Amino acid sequence: MPTGIDGVEIRTGNLKLDLAETFAPEKDDDPAKYTKGLGLHASSFPDTYEDIVTMAANAAKRLMERKGLQPDDIGRIDVATESAFDHAKPVSTYVAGCLEQVFEGDFHHANKGERKFACIAGTQALDDAVNWIEAGKNRGRAALVIATDTALYERGDSGEATQGAGAVAMLVDEDPDLVTVDPDQGYGSADETDFLKPNQQFPSVDGKRSMQVYLARMREALTDFERSWGDTHPDQFALVPFHTPFPGMVRKAAVLGFRHLMRGTDIEDALESEIGRQPRRDDFADDEAFMDALSEYTDALGETDRYAEWYDDTIESTLAISRHVGNWYTGSVHLARAAGLREAAQAGVDLAGEHLLVASYGSGAQAEIHAETVQDGWEAEIEQLNVEDQLDDRYDISWSEYETIHEVHDYDETTDVDPFTTPSREFVFDGWGRMGERKYTYVE
Ligand code: CAA
Repeated sequence: MPTGIDGVEIRTGNLKLDLAETFAPEKDDDPAKYTKGLGLHASSFPDTYEDIVTMAANAAKRLMERKGLQPDDIGRIDVATESAFDHAKPVSTYVAGCLEQVFEGDFHHANKGERKFACIAGTQALDDAVNWIEAGKNRGRAALVIATDTALYERGDSGEATQGAGAVAMLVDEDPDLVTVDPDQGYGSADETDFLKPNQQFPSVDGKRSMQVYLARMREALTDFERSWGDTHPDQFALVPFHTPFPGMVRKAAVLGFRHLMRGTDIEDALESEIGRQPRRDDFADDEAFMDALSEYTDALGETDRYAEWYDDTIESTLAISRHVGNWYTGSVHLARAAGLREAAQAGVDLAGEHLLVASYGSGAQAEIHAETVQDGWEAEIEQLNVEDQLDDRYDISWSEYETIHEVHDYDETTDVDPFTTPSREFVFDGWGRMGERKYTYVE
């Protein structure tokens, strides 16, 4: 029985930082650096009563309610995060505790865990859930996979403009409504120090290098993917959702991906009179000359109408949400998939039976590229999302409110301020227990 994502829910932090209006003036920058250069308009932030647990639990609650599920229907809860606040007790136990406050029964027989490999952990958790079901161990039950992060950087860090906070919950099951996760997958993985958090909350990041590592691992993963899939062609995939630390990163990766996918195809033939053929290593005396020629060819390819058309059809729509929320780390590629499907549904495009090429990445570093197939129920499922309402309802913080909220979420600071929004029908963080655990309540 095909296995994959039966339903998805998105939960954004309740605050918004406008990059052009609020961030750029304080940094004395041209707003276009953010809106055009990085491709970002705003970041989502958690209010004082929100964190990775509340966002995850709120997304999971809505998903379970929509799908008519009770705890007995769930055999596994996997949370992927790189913002965990505990080295032993996994976030999934907190999430289960929250959900047990509002559903009948409990999750005592559900296997719970926490996945870590920077941003790719969300996809690894998805793979784990699919494998568990395909191994026949699920006894008819589904898995909840939740990617949740508060992607905060040190104040003044180069990554500060790419911050974000939110959760993506996915229900993984047999005969899914949304997409099957297909067996074709490829990896690109190497020991890298581009972005890491050695026992610290905020990352140490080499921003420029991290971009090179992202592209290198993606290239390896695509080559490995082809060992399973066979020859690729850009038109085989209706959408290509990428891990999106910021849309500008995807812009760089997409043209390289297109160049790779169209090599040796009718597209390369058709473009020959306009930009020549792709340079092949054998035709050059050394690597440097080859790389220069490749880079020149890639720039020219990026300017062609054929590439622009492909980018508009398969990439642009996947960035529609991330432009307004920033980086959600583990959730980012899953947000990209949801955005692309949602835009397609709104545009009346029929995607049933079409393939997606999903490109995940985690610093440290690893890329995974896998194929998915859109299922018949995709449109009805994706139309259930209320993400636009959530984005519109966010409270737009001023610069001084941003400084405060960054401090509130800094584990080394104790900052007690009133929330900027009033929680309603959601889980909230409401203080500390006697062993230093975080406590949560559902407020009506
Ligand atoms: N108008 C239009 N564009 C402008 C502009 C203006 N006025 N001013 C600048 N730009 C463009 C720049 O040309 C640049 O685009 P190109 O790269 O295409 O040339 C873009 O805006 C960004 O400008 P800078 O390179 O000057 O920006 P920066 O150095 O301040 O920061 C960054 C960029 C290093 C990526 C930083 O955001 C960062 O450190 N981010 C965190 C790390 C990250 O996200 N890495 C991505 C790969 S790793 C990963 O994916 C894992 C993860 O989630 C973290």
